[in-house]
Amino acid sequence: MSARRASRARFLYHHTQCFVRLIMLPLVITLTQAQLERAVMVDRLENVTHTISRILDGYDIRLRPNFGGDPLYVGMDLTIASFDVISEVNMDYTITLYLNQYWKDERLAFGLSDEVLTLSGDFADKIWVPDTFFANDKNSFLHDVTERNKLVRLGGEGSITYGMRFTATLACMMDLHYYPLDSQNCTVEIESYGYTVSDVVMYWKETPVRGVEDAELPQFTVLGHETNDRKEKLATGVYQRLSLSFKLRRNIGYFVFQTYLPSILIVMLSWVSFWINHEATSARVALGITTVLTMTTISTGVRSSLPRISYVKAIDIYLVMCFVFVFAALLEYAAVNYTYWGARARKRAKLKIRDQLSSSTSMEKDLKCSSGTHSNEEIIALREVSSGGRVSPLLGLRTRPLPPLAGAPPSLRLQRDHSHLRYRTRPHSRNSRNGTGSKPKVMHALRRGANVIKASMPKIRDVNVIDTYSRVIFPICFLIFNTVYWVFYIFD
Ligand SMILES: *[C@@H]1O[C@H](CO)[C@@H](O)[C@H](O)[C@H]1NC(C)=O
Ligand SMILES: *[C@@H]1O[C@H](CO)[C@@H](O)[C@H](O)[C@H]1NC(C)=O
Repeated sequence: MSARRASRARFLYHHTQCFVRLIMLPLVITLTQAQLERAVMVDRLENVTHTISRILDGYDIRLRPNFGGDPLYVGMDLTIASFDVISEVNMDYTITLYLNQYWKDERLAFGLSDEVLTLSGDFADKIWVPDTFFANDKNSFLHDVTERNKLVRLGGEGSITYGMRFTATLACMMDLHYYPLDSQNCTVEIESYGYTVSDVVMYWKETPVRGVEDAELPQFTVLGHETNDRKEKLATGVYQRLSLSFKLRRNIGYFVFQTYLPSILIVMLSWVSFWINHEATSARVALGITTVLTMTTISTGVRSSLPRISYVKAIDIYLVMCFVFVFAALLEYAAVNYTYWGARARKRAKLKIRDQLSSSTSMEKDLKCSSGTHSNEEIIALREVSSGGRVSPLLGLRTRPLPPLAGAPPSLRLQRDHSHLRYRTRPHSRNSRNGTGSKPKVMHALRRGANVIKASMPKIRDVNVIDTYSRVIFPICFLIFNTVYWVFYIFD
């Protein structure tokens, strides 16, 4: 009984062990495999660490690869991350770039060419790197969130990829003659700072620039880009310079809404004056002055975002012409007003003179004959001189009633009073000091000339004619100006 139990127990034990072994064996095998892999990896890492320390052992960071031999070829490529700002005031633009440089340093070869080690950016501090710089750089910085944005990739046979991401503010001298209808050509100039062409030669990789198509700019459209390389001769030697240029066209939309449309509307507003009755002086003067001031404000706003360049820009021409139109509308009213009141004053003066001439002395007639082209005003003045020559002008003014211009506005009356005084004082100066009469003579000649011009000008019967013509002439002139302006600047 006990022997049977024992044999049975042995049987069970045997089978259980077999079962356990069958189950456990693959597990054990897997375990050993993982252990092995880990061991291999540790070995490899040790190997890499060993490799790196081996290649850096005795490495002289000061000497370029292939020192003393053929020049080192350094390849470049760029990826545009973003265009940030384009500033006309500072004549520069800010751009964020990924710059990759490729070269080969045989001292760093560690194995086969398909093996690549990506190392931290700090590794660049331990090996020789090109002293690349941007010739038109004003200010730039490497980003360091979360770590310095640099990478070093080491190929088995010593090829190195050295990448970095940074933001640079680069000078771009802009030609603003056509502003804001202009296109600009801004460049990125890459050069080695110390190594001349006999040491380092830079070249563009097959696809030198990426990301231009995706670049978004609020004020410009990137029309295209091109890469060049040339030799740059400086005081310290001849350097290889790579340049990338962008063609940027300014978007006109902002200026249309901010400057052109308001200016056009202000000029049109100034024409409203031609439809207002010429006797509504305050309305028409206020309209004229408001439009002139508004044009000044608009041009001040435009100028604030531009450097103080002395040449004339396209927008200056437009604003100045709008200003001229607005100003001319104001002057037109001055002409209407003057013609109206002048005509009335002349009519009244003529009537009065006719009355006085009918009862005049022979002396006055002599005076009139000797200077046939004298105007009515002069005759009045001379008549007054002849009749009261000895009386002081002020006293004469005080005692005598005002000349027959009661209907004229105060300004005209004042003007007449002045001419009156000048004529009255002339005989005195002539009598007292002989030979100093050249100035009055010039004045006289000028006055005579002015009278001739006045006589040759067409006489305007109805002042409304000026307004009627202005209503047509001003818009037509403005239309012609606009046509010429836009055709010249857009199709040039
Ligand atoms: C290190 O790895 C290379 C291949 O990457 C191999 O040829 C070499 O034998 C390894 N050296 C050691 C010490 O394991
Ligand atoms: C920009 O100007 C440079 C020289 O000033 C010229 O070589 C380059 O072709 C121009 N780029 C474009 C896109 O027009």
